[in-house]
Amino acid sequence: MKVLVVGSGGREHALVWKIAQSKLVKKLFCAPGNGGIAEIAEIVDIKQEDIEGLVRFAKDKRIDLTVVGPEAPLVKGIVDRFSEEGLRVFGPTKELSQLEGSKVFAKEMMKRFGAPTADFKVFENLDEAKKYIKQKGVPIVVKADGLAAGKGVIVAKTQDEATDAIERIMVRKEFGDSGKRIVIEECLEGDEASILVFSDGKTIIPLDSSQDHKRIFDGDKGSNTGGMGAYSPAPIITEKIFKEIIERIFRPVIDGLAKENLFFKGVLYGGLMITKDGPKVLEFNVRFGDPETQAIIPRMKTDLIEEMEACIEKRLDEIKIDWDRRACLSVVIASKGYPEKYEKGKEIFGLEEIKKLKDIMVFHAGTVQKSGKFLTNGGRVLGVTALGKDIKEAKERAYRAVERIDFDGKYYRSDIGYRAIQNM
Ligand code: AMP
Ligand code: GLY
Repeated sequence: MKVLVVGSGGREHALVWKIAQSKLVKKLFCAPGNGGIAEIAEIVDIKQEDIEGLVRFAKDKRIDLTVVGPEAPLVKGIVDRFSEEGLRVFGPTKELSQLEGSKVFAKEMMKRFGAPTADFKVFENLDEAKKYIKQKGVPIVVKADGLAAGKGVIVAKTQDEATDAIERIMVRKEFGDSGKRIVIEECLEGDEASILVFSDGKTIIPLDSSQDHKRIFDGDKGSNTGGMGAYSPAPIITEKIFKEIIERIFRPVIDGLAKENLFFKGVLYGGLMITKDGPKVLEFNVRFGDPETQAIIPRMKTDLIEEMEACIEKRLDEIKIDWDRRACLSVVIASKGYPEKYEKGKEIFGLEEIKKLKDIMVFHAGTVQKSGKFLTNGGRVLGVTALGKDIKEAKERAYRAVERIDFDGKYYRSDIGYRAIQNM
């Protein structure tokens, strides 16, 4: 088969790395890809949101399967367009991508299908929103309705912060049209974890648990980022909690949608808070997580393409995923200044040497190859990933590799995995 992966981050590098190992795959393309992906797939210079360009490419090259990494093309309807053209594609339709594309849509679904989530209210009016916050008190959570690259959620500890959050979204329009409506919700307490499941619209097969670290500084301090590291499995997800998550959250949502003739095909990602009253949904995403994928995929022993094909063909009930029992941990190396301003174009050293190490994978995000050199090309640059007998060993191995990589302005968190290790 010929496979096209859409996207350019660490998640896509991990997917491409895994897909390249599939016996079913003869030729692999990635659009637009990055420096690391270029080593294992043919890079195609088409932007991830250029849906018509991607359709033309897939038809022209007779691509058998397109795998969509990021949310933006899904929310824009890439799956519907590919399907119209008779092209096979892995991911949910535009309508169901609203589970990620609109927090209002997602919250209403959860309410309708009884999936536990924070109490909430939707606002389109500034004064009403402010009044509600005064009435509810703090802490409280303010969310822009639409996509905001993970930045449209503000957990406000004071009334001033909450009011400022509303103004940033609704008046200053920091997230553009995404902020036309907002969700204000109850602040939940507990430990976070990510559960990703394959769904063919009927059968659900969970991937193993994971946890990411969203904040920029050690100790989960500072602003939110796209993710500074992740590990899998997440020890807080015991077998009992895992079962509860599937039965009380994913089952009702997938079944509820199916009853309305909406079949979710692809990966459904639940960002969860494990509260003292049980697991609750913070958000749904309609794709693989980044950087969770970098920590999950190296543990998957079975063929990812077979699993994706089974989702598309509604025969997920025939599939069983085998997992490496070892733990996996991925540390993001970023450019100094990220998630705000940072510089690009710095030469990266040490990558060749790391290739020789066993069970260490360096997934590239913001990198580019120029005249045989790798240069930084984004905020998050690399995901240095290691397997180990447990999280502690995976962490030690990953950090030893991190130390061998260098570039001007290299920044990383030094405590990825600390919560899991504390509880060991
Ligand atoms: P989201 O993009 O909705 O997952 O939110 C980003 C982050 O904000 C989450 O990973 C949580 O850390 C935090 N968050 C979101 N909703 C809530 C909530 N209701 N209570 C507490 N924290 C939340
Ligand atoms: N790790 C968060 C996300 O993929 O949205």
